[in-house]
Amino acid sequence: MSNDDTKDMVETVDVSPRDPDVPQAPGGDVFRQLLHQAVRVADMANSQAMRMALDFAKVYEREQGVRKEFENQLKQMTLMEKQATRYAEDLAGMLRSERERRQELERALEQERIASEELRRTGLQGISHLLLAATIKDRTTGTHLQRVRRYVEAIAERLGLPDELVEEYGYSSVMHDVGKIHTPDHILQSEHHLSDDEFSVIKQHCIDGEKMLGTARFFETARAIAREHHERWDGKGYPDGKKGEEISLAARIVSVADVFDALTSKRPYKEAWSAEAGLKAIETGAGERFDPEIVAGFVALAKEGVLERISSEVAASEGDEQPGSSAK
Ligand SMILES: [Fe+2]
Ligand SMILES: [Fe+2]
Repeated sequence: MSNDDTKDMVETVDVSPRDPDVPQAPGGDVFRQLLHQAVRVADMANSQAMRMALDFAKVYEREQGVRKEFENQLKQMTLMEKQATRYAEDLAGMLRSERERRQELERALEQERIASEELRRTGLQGISHLLLAATIKDRTTGTHLQRVRRYVEAIAERLGLPDELVEEYGYSSVMHDVGKIHTPDHILQSEHHLSDDEFSVIKQHCIDGEKMLGTARFFETARAIAREHHERWDGKGYPDGKKGEEISLAARIVSVADVFDALTSKRPYKEAWSAEAGLKAIETGAGERFDPEIVAGFVALAKEGVLERISSEVAASEGDEQPGSSAK
């Protein structure tokens, strides 16, 4: 029932006495006023209730909105959390496989290191066998090879080569005459100067040496040295007549060290030269027989007393052994 309906109803209520002769009760107007008042109060209560209902509806609506927003945010957060978890799992998986790969690589490198160390040891054993054979055959003494090796290492170090190369040049240098195993004894052990024919036979030791050293990477430098240690800077050497930097650096270094040691050692047909005379001959050969830069380094080593120190250290380690023929 609306407010207006209530008012109409109040206006139409008949509060007059049933009998017109009966004097009108004085309470009739009062009752009407009370009724009017009651209707007003009801009106007020009604509109108050309406307002409250509207307010409640608004609040409810607002709360619904907030709840929906909250639910949405919750959904997004759950989604993000799932994504983050997936990323974290992916990342962990990647790290795991990366770590496994690294471990595998480290294992492979370790095996490679062991294998190459074994190869190196085998190579060095091979060298000592070859040298033993060459020494017996050529009467080349161990001290000659030791001095050549130490001179070569000192020169290579002085030229600023890295440690691995210094070591490689050193051990490779001791095989320079390994091809002499094939040279006939009467030529090798000849007490006199060689004839041209004999000399052409002896030249073959460079080619034989290179062949004997096979194809392994370990002997690459040794092969170059065996082949080229009698080549000359001016191109007049043997067996190929290479000149200048066509000759490998290792062979150019060995050439200086080997000739110096041959000159300063006793031979079947000559006495040992003094270190000064030997050095003078090397200096004279700079730019002709030898690479001038290597000669300069070698002379500097002599002035610093390095050559003398090497010579006496080798003599002390091996006893008073007489160097033999080697640099023919
Ligand atoms: Fe030689
Ligand atoms: Fe030699």
